[in-house]
Amino acid sequence: MRERLRFYFGEELIEIASCDPTLTLLDWLRLERRRTGSKEGCAEGDCGACTVVIGRLDGGRLRYEAINACIRFLLTLDGCHLLTVEHLKGTDGRLHPVQQAMVDCHGSQCGFCTPGFVMSLFALWLNEDRPSVARIEDALAGNLCRCTGYEPIIQAAQRLYERGDRANDRFALASPAMVKRLDALADGETLALADGSRRFFAPASVEALADLLSVYPEAVLVAGATDVGLWITKGMQQPATVIYLGRLDELRTISDQGGHLRIGAMVNHIDTRKALAELSPQLDELMRRFGGEQVRNAGTIGGNIANGSPIGDLPPALIALGATLVLRHGDEGRELPLENFFLDYRKQDRQPGEFVEAVLVPKLPEDALFHISKISKRFDEDISAVCGAFLLRWDAGGIITEARLAYGGMAGIPKRAAAAEAALLGQEWNGTSVAAAIAALPQDFTPLTDMRASAGYRLKVAGNLLRRFLIETSEPETETRVAGLLAEAAHG
Ligand SMILES: Cc1cc2nc3c(=O)[nH]c(=O)nc-3n(C[C@H](O)[C@H](O)[C@H](O)COP(=O)(O)OP(=O)(O)OC[C@H]3O[C@@H](n4cnc5c(N)ncnc54)[C@H](O)[C@@H]3O)c2cc1C
Ligand code: FES
Ligand code: FES
Repeated sequence: MRERLRFYFGEELIEIASCDPTLTLLDWLRLERRRTGSKEGCAEGDCGACTVVIGRLDGGRLRYEAINACIRFLLTLDGCHLLTVEHLKGTDGRLHPVQQAMVDCHGSQCGFCTPGFVMSLFALWLNEDRPSVARIEDALAGNLCRCTGYEPIIQAAQRLYERGDRANDRFALASPAMVKRLDALADGETLALADGSRRFFAPASVEALADLLSVYPEAVLVAGATDVGLWITKGMQQPATVIYLGRLDELRTISDQGGHLRIGAMVNHIDTRKALAELSPQLDELMRRFGGEQVRNAGTIGGNIANGSPIGDLPPALIALGATLVLRHGDEGRELPLENFFLDYRKQDRQPGEFVEAVLVPKLPEDALFHISKISKRFDEDISAVCGAFLLRWDAGGIITEARLAYGGMAGIPKRAAAAEAALLGQEWNGTSVAAAIAALPQDFTPLTDMRASAGYRLKVAGNLLRRFLIETSEPETETRVAGLLAEAAHG
């Protein structure tokens, strides 16, 4: 085991031997290093003021990602390259092209959000050439600004690509040298640090993880920390033992296994989106609206499932598709239908010491129709009030032979609507059968009223989503999606 965290902070090699296991990266930057460029707005991953860029080795290349420093733990940076807004200005005092474009386009007023926007744009600049306006908006959806109205910031992003020279960007030019430095840090050792009675581990292999879990079966597993981070910053929890999964490259793979995709638990939402988009454009759209870019970079498919939230977006979609969960305990593995994993509110079929290894996602049969609707108060970067995912199949006579209707936000767990499904089976897909399914929904669900929606609204909207599915299949010319209506409005 190695008892020292090692990562590069710009050009500086940082080594830390003792640290609170859940010290956030933002607190380390601001309170210990006095690097106050990264701001704290919300401390829960919503506003993007704390955005920094982290580089990690991915298949031999350096992959830079924007993440929220407020909910990321410092100790998860082992083997990474950290860049904050302070690194962008050149040693000659000249602003980086991203910063200069923001100045030129008046992209900053009070300035509080500006370092976060700069870092999100910087990550986009490092990774993508000439993004469309839609893509720029997507990349910035995790950054909030109360002053500018966003237009000057989007203009800055466009100006940057018109005038900047990506090929000669000093960070791009320095990348091969940084790959070598990070390679030299990758020793395959489990990282183990303690702070009083609290412990942090970052195993470098699944075997090492299994060994640790046999000793600490109640340890809190941390993947992207986009849920766990809030337990610390908002819930004030202090877990005794934390095991970070981010060094397990084996859990980051996606493989096509013929009838299904096998997606490793640590695959982040950016890569999950690419894989699922191949199966259905509806999955692509769902994942586009999952958090903001920083949350999609950090958050993982395994975390979204294992968290067991009733309003997680992926579980309803994966349940409707008939996905299977792969769990592992030591050398033992088991598989179960994803829908059986969720037992009760925040109670999952996961034994102490067991972890989620992968998800098997069936490809859509050619004769199936698949639909997803996410209803949230804000279009981007908002968790669902209700999410409905539906899969239907017919026989040659147009009679429904398979109906999988899965909802989030309607019960304490993501759940299938068994009575509504029964109302559809053996029927034709039309207004009458849909009305019967809607009438059956109160047998399936007694939703709660909370800050996201009232119980009455939830039940009403759950039925309306089935109606929307029917309209989309029977009257495809009718526009039913906000994105489509916005595009129509933009074109006059
Ligand atoms: C601003 C913001 C916006 C968000 N928007 C959305 C949204 O639109 N839709 C949505 O569904 N969610 C959203 N979330 C919630 C969160 O991003 C997701 O649930 C995410 O997928 C969690 O993944 P993670 O890797 O960050 O999990 P973590 O926070 O690291 O872990 C979550 C839970 O899963 C457990 N866990 C993680 N990996 C494993 C594993 N391999 N085996 C066993 N247990 C494991 C952890 O112990 C913990 O209990 C949002 C969060 C934030 C902060
Ligand atoms: S401070 Fe708001 S996202 Fe981090
Ligand atoms: S410039 Fe004031 S919040 Fe964005």
